[in-house]
Amino acid sequence: MALYAMGDLHLSLNSNKSMEVFGPAWDNYTERIRVSLSELTADDVLVLAGDTSWGMSLEESEADFRFLEQFPCKKYILKGNHDYWWATAAKFKAFCEKNGFITMELLHNNCFFYGDYAICGTRGWFIEEEQKPHNAKVLNRELMRLETSLAAAGEKPILCFLHYPPLYQGYRCEEVLNLLRKYQVKQCCYGHLHGPTIKRRIEGTWEKTELSLISGDYLGFIPKKICD
Ligand SMILES: [Fe+2]
Ligand SMILES: [Fe+2]
Repeated sequence: MALYAMGDLHLSLNSNKSMEVFGPAWDNYTERIRVSLSELTADDVLVLAGDTSWGMSLEESEADFRFLEQFPCKKYILKGNHDYWWATAAKFKAFCEKNGFITMELLHNNCFFYGDYAICGTRGWFIEEEQKPHNAKVLNRELMRLETSLAAAGEKPILCFLHYPPLYQGYRCEEVLNLLRKYQVKQCCYGHLHGPTIKRRIEGTWEKTELSLISGDYLGFIPKKICD
């Protein structure tokens, strides 16, 4: 029994957006994901940290979720910037019930418990978002989601999962970092960084929080073990 995490699977079984065009790091990635996730058992938990499927709707993503469902581990899925299929929690639940999917839940305005830990998270906020209109409103909404999730942890030590890095060479999201500090987050894993941007990642200890990049191509599509 162990907790694992990986972001950015970018599955495209029904979307014609295979990531293989982005070079050797993505060669045969769906098969490599199949092999690595086959190692996980029904007692294991896997956090998928955003950019899970390229589908534009739940229907278009069905093949990707069916692919994930074949692995018996429990999966908590948070939102990435490319999850265009994302719908309300109620719609996702109905979609899973209709298709007989029993291993997946959304990590969104909530938290889950794993052993002595709370698993919290949300999409987060990044440089790209700052260039879009209405950014203050979207940032505030994200901060509220993150705080709702962190507060749900109660007294449990927190493992936080974000899609966007809160800290990056040339960028820091002070508002997200303030929440990590306020809730004394023990570990924060994030995805989103691919290819050449990986070298600008910041990992290791920030104040009392351990930061790690967990994008699929960075991990070689082998999920990172967070704890037993
Ligand atoms: Fe991504
Ligand atoms: Fe992303």
